[in-house]
Amino acid sequence: MDLITDKEKIIDDLKKELERINDLQEFQNLKSQYLGKKGKIKSLMNNLKNLDENSKKEYGQSVNELKNEIGIIFNEKFTKLIEKEREEKEKEKWIDVTIPGAHRKLGKESLITNTRKEIEKIFLGLGFSVAEGPEIENSWYNFDALNTPQWHPAREMQDTFYLSTDKSKLLRTHTSPVQVRTMLKNSPPLAIISPGRVYRKDELDATHSPVFHQVEGLYVDKNVSVSHLKMYLEVFAQKLFGNKVSVLLRPSYFPFTEPSFEVDISCIFCGGKGCKVCKNSGWIEILGAGLVHPNVFKSVDYDPEKWQGFAFGMGIERIAMLKNNIPDIREFYKNDISFIENL
Ligand code: DAH
Repeated sequence: MDLITDKEKIIDDLKKELERINDLQEFQNLKSQYLGKKGKIKSLMNNLKNLDENSKKEYGQSVNELKNEIGIIFNEKFTKLIEKEREEKEKEKWIDVTIPGAHRKLGKESLITNTRKEIEKIFLGLGFSVAEGPEIENSWYNFDALNTPQWHPAREMQDTFYLSTDKSKLLRTHTSPVQVRTMLKNSPPLAIISPGRVYRKDELDATHSPVFHQVEGLYVDKNVSVSHLKMYLEVFAQKLFGNKVSVLLRPSYFPFTEPSFEVDISCIFCGGKGCKVCKNSGWIEILGAGLVHPNVFKSVDYDPEKWQGFAFGMGIERIAMLKNNIPDIREFYKNDISFIENL
């Protein structure tokens, strides 16, 4: 046997095999094939016993040299593999700070909240403060104290959500009971607005919803007249819809005001010329108002001879629909994300 030619072949084979190896596990396997207990070097050593004394020494030396050479080759490869592994770990750790961050959509305030705040801001600027009342109301505050006679249609079962069979508890049908609560707690003069949710047994359609929002207004002082009411409403309408808007009071009826008015603004879509939205009238109704009825003052122990006041009430959805050109109240309750995003 010619160990010298064998040696070159063994080393060549080993180098070729090592080239294919990429991880430490494969490396260890290969290493034990060469240098392990049952490895190639070991089996070469086993040949020693078949040799005569003269050849033994030379052969032994030669195998040892081969073993050392192989050892060096394995060590070099080992260093390379460790270095490669380190580089890969570094790569994993590397953070590319130039990659744009994950985009998160920002939430948006609901249009109803947004409109409420806009209305509040205008009246706060006019010296009003904000008062709130409960949504579960006593029928005395919702009807009786507001001079609503027993026969009034608003009291009917089909209009009001009653919470007790004796009809004493109900879901408030308007924000007007907050007038009563505020006057009972404070002495005049006062100026408040009261925003909140109200409930009526209305079928859901393009302009009606069984739950909607109102803002109530109440102003009490000495010598208050319809001209004060009109001035405040004009300032309000112009701040909300623009300076060109004018206000029209049309006689109407509410139990808690005398005189009572439906309040229109000149059509914000056609400027008053007449269009589809204002049904060619040039005017759009936005709220109800009037001078506080003496009976309302009496029920809260204000002297109607001494104090006068005006009050008004408007639907927030209606204002938001006009301002944002929304044709259908159901849009507010559909939870359609594109509706919110496009506002
Ligand atoms: N409460 C009335 C409604 O719900 C709105 C209203 C009209 C409120 C006239 C007022 C007012 O304060 O004076 O339809």
